[in-house]
Amino acid sequence: MGHGLILGIETSCDETAAAIVERGSHTLASVVASQIATHARYGGVVPELASREHLRAIVPVVRAALAEANVTFADLDAIAVTCGPGLAGALLVGITYAKALAFARNLPLIAVNHLEGHIHAVLLNEREERLAKVRGLPPFEQNTLEGWGTQVDDESALALVVSGGHTHLYFAQPAHGSWRYRLVGRTVDDAAGEAYDKVAKLLGLGYPGGPWIDALARFGNPQAVPFSFSQIKTKVHLAGKPARTKAAKTAPIAALDPHFLFSFSGIKTAVLRYVELHELRTEAETRSARLFPAHNTGAPSFERFELEGWETTKPNPPSTQIPQTREEALALCPQPTLDLIASFQHAVIGDLMKKTFAAAEALDAPRILITGGVAANRELRERFMAEAERRGLRIAFPTLALSTDNAAMIAAAAWPRLLAGELAPPELTADPSLTL
Ligand code: KG4
Ligand code: ZN
Repeated sequence: MGHGLILGIETSCDETAAAIVERGSHTLASVVASQIATHARYGGVVPELASREHLRAIVPVVRAALAEANVTFADLDAIAVTCGPGLAGALLVGITYAKALAFARNLPLIAVNHLEGHIHAVLLNEREERLAKVRGLPPFEQNTLEGWGTQVDDESALALVVSGGHTHLYFAQPAHGSWRYRLVGRTVDDAAGEAYDKVAKLLGLGYPGGPWIDALARFGNPQAVPFSFSQIKTKVHLAGKPARTKAAKTAPIAALDPHFLFSFSGIKTAVLRYVELHELRTEAETRSARLFPAHNTGAPSFERFELEGWETTKPNPPSTQIPQTREEALALCPQPTLDLIASFQHAVIGDLMKKTFAAAEALDAPRILITGGVAANRELRERFMAEAERRGLRIAFPTLALSTDNAAMIAAAAWPRLLAGELAPPELTADPSLTL
């Protein structure tokens, strides 16, 4: 092994990402080509378009990452790729590319679960912070590296992965330099990010919805609309469903403590009802037409594919992707709409907090990690941090750039697996519903 350099590749949804990370602890390059512009006009990710965009982007994005890190393929020690969960066609682009590259360069290939990647985004940040204090990684000595993972990550944690596809609670425990995860809670229907995206779409705001709601919520009264979450009853939820046909979905839910189950489809419907009752639809349509005139005129154009024209989001945190239209959106939202947005966000975050802190207490977790796209949310960070402080619990978030999808987290998660010799099988393929 050279310096422990891993090329990470992530194509599970709508970002084509490549990163070079040294020993899971130091990011040399992290490049993210976002497809937001392509999907925005449809108000959500279109799987076929996503695959095609990944195909176009994968080679230039990997090249950009190598150039940024100032390394070549010859310097790499392994390739890591997201193998699921995600969109099948999108995952396959990354997997096929990674397999071909690993074969051609005779490099080990490591398959990474996207959710494990999100958890490692926080661990990567923590290691980078520690390394900044000791001014860099210790000299590379293969024999002593076995302990590297355990030296720095010796504590279990309750991890909330909250994104557009997931709202999952895991108890993460270090085990002989590697990590083991126990599912503690999850959503029984929509993910929190999905609720953000659907509510934003309903209100005529942009895609993805999280950053828009994040930006506008602070101007509204969070107590104006009293949204509530009722306790989920596992048995009721599963009643009437054929036994175990969707084993991967129903079996873990049935086995989980209902106090740690989430459900976000109810609040989405409640917002819809509110919009209808208060006749806010026309207002939302007008807002959408004013904010996104291009989305509303005729056939989409697919002529903007050069890498220069793409948004590469390494230094740009997701919340700042929309500054030019945020003021405009604010001007287009009457106070009752801002109050609705603030109340929605307040309720969602309150529910995430209630269950996460309850699980941390039940498991006696020494600390909490919050990760995934929704973890970029400003109010979420503030309220979780205040509550953690009140309870004397430690809490960590990734930087904003590492909260949403990226490949640095994939390369970081692969490092302990590489050390443990957990390589991908030659027949590796995409697993859209892979569980952790
Ligand atoms: O982790 P991610 O990039 O992709 C998935 O794995 O799903 O998460 C994307 C999700 C979207 O639903 C988006 O609306 C949400 O994260 N999101 C936010 C914020 N930034 C992104 N939600 C709330 N507040 C934000 N600032
Ligand atoms: Zn993700």
